[in-house]
Amino acid sequence: MINKDKFNRLEKTNKKALQGGGKHRIEKQHKKGKLTARERVELLMDEGSFQETGRFVTHRSQDFGLDKNIPLGDGVVTGYGTVNQRLVYIFSQDFTIFGGSLAEAHAEKIVKIMDLAMKNGAPLIGLNDSGGARIQEGVVSLGGYADIFYKNTLASGVVPQISAIMGPCAGGAVYSPAITDFNIMVEGSSYMFVTGPNVVKTVTHEEVTAEELGGASAHSTKSGVAHFTAFNDVDAIEQIKKLLSYIPQNCEDTTPEIQYERDNEANPELNSIVPENPNQPYNIKEVICKVIDKESFYEVHKDYAENIVVGFARLAGRSIGIVANQPMSMAGVLDIESSKKGARFVRFCDAFNIPLLVFEDVPGFLPGTDQEWRGIITNGAKLLFAFSEATVPRITVITRKAYGGAYDVMNSKHIGADLNFAWPTAEIAVMGAKGAAEIIFKKEILEAKDSSKKLKEKEDEYNEMFANPYIAAARGYIDEVIRPEDTRGRLIRGFKMLENKVDKLPKKKHNNIPL
Ligand code: HXC
Repeated sequence: MINKDKFNRLEKTNKKALQGGGKHRIEKQHKKGKLTARERVELLMDEGSFQETGRFVTHRSQDFGLDKNIPLGDGVVTGYGTVNQRLVYIFSQDFTIFGGSLAEAHAEKIVKIMDLAMKNGAPLIGLNDSGGARIQEGVVSLGGYADIFYKNTLASGVVPQISAIMGPCAGGAVYSPAITDFNIMVEGSSYMFVTGPNVVKTVTHEEVTAEELGGASAHSTKSGVAHFTAFNDVDAIEQIKKLLSYIPQNCEDTTPEIQYERDNEANPELNSIVPENPNQPYNIKEVICKVIDKESFYEVHKDYAENIVVGFARLAGRSIGIVANQPMSMAGVLDIESSKKGARFVRFCDAFNIPLLVFEDVPGFLPGTDQEWRGIITNGAKLLFAFSEATVPRITVITRKAYGGAYDVMNSKHIGADLNFAWPTAEIAVMGAKGAAEIIFKKEILEAKDSSKKLKEKEDEYNEMFANPYIAAARGYIDEVIRPEDTRGRLIRGFKMLENKVDKLPKKKHNNIPL
């Protein structure tokens, strides 16, 4: 029987640990519209499932008064539990203790939980809310950060890593979330930057607020650092749950599946989405939503590089990753940002066995000095490389344009796609009819009495000859030309057929993707 005194002492210590940095600091946190580290964990985990690790860990520093301030847990709550009955590991920084700042013991707790996540094959969730390196502990704090970066890198591709930024995240601290697979930022209360507004002002003389420099809006629209934004902490936690519902536990697991009863899969509404005029835009998300299971699209990077759409969805109950050109934005052209966005998503899906579905309507790569000088060659190659090395089941549907190099890049069969379908509206050619006619019939057009009439004639001739899916289909580059309404049914059958696909890359240490 446990001694009553000892029991009371245990209860007292436990209570102390659960109180974080004290009542007034918790109130301050709430006043900012933020939850505490423990409230966030409780909200994420299935009720009663959270098991804490390292609750009594303390720092060992003696400097700058730290010897008189030794809070339990050292400013981070770590542990494991379940989210919708699936195991996850978590760390949640406690801003009420030393501003959530990271130092030796704090970092050790995080590293331990990362090791457990990797060894046991379950996702790692990091809830970041920290003033950065604990100033009093000096270089030890920097070492702690580096230990985490190293583990983030080793865990990359082994288990999914999700970061939520729910407060400050500045300096080198940003590099842990940057290495993880997804960043969710809370609007208004989180920011991320390498150097803050004061340093920016000194160095570049720019006047900028923390929010403008590194708030959720900046990173979800301009830099692409944030994959998702949330209205508040509760929304951020809900989004983590949603994201987890699409992804496997680890790189050897299969995608989650929900019960699905087969139905009449035809959807005639798909027949009228692509306009008759090939230069008129349409919203590819309409196509996506009419093909996948109802309301299952979870878009990633929604407001960044909108000329490509990427996100998770379910098809007949099974998770898939979607990559689609968006004719509504810059005619769906591929540029530097969209290539990077697409490549990063493709690589995540491939690392975690999530089949890929591509909708293609792409007029080519974006021309111009800006793109060439900033490296559309290297960046466009990222998307090409990412698709080429992907060994998951891969299907493409060409809805309209598939021009030039972009035809090759967007998951063509030549680079390993398993099945490629085209709608009758597909145009698969080296370039658009006008440009092609101007080059190959230049002499004839110049010598004609009526040059513009001749150009139109040659344009029509080229269109008739090449701007259709049948030449590619005759070569076997397209498996089938299908009616849009039949797309869903074909894809369900296609992915079912590819369910047990095994494909191996040549033996190597690692590849050298053009970074
Ligand atoms: C120790 C810290 C701290 C830190 C905050 N605190 N940051 N303690 N080390 N880095 C403490 C404060 O002293 C305060 O303690 C409590 O946390 C809450 O901080 P406040 O300033 O009252 O909160 P707020 O007004 O919300 O401002 C938050 C903040 C600010 C913007 C984060 O605290 C701040 O600027 N902190 C310093 C940030 C910083 O320079 N970090 C080092 C970056 S360099 P009390 O006891 O008063 O409640 C870095 C390098 C990493 O991180 C490199 C990795 C490779």
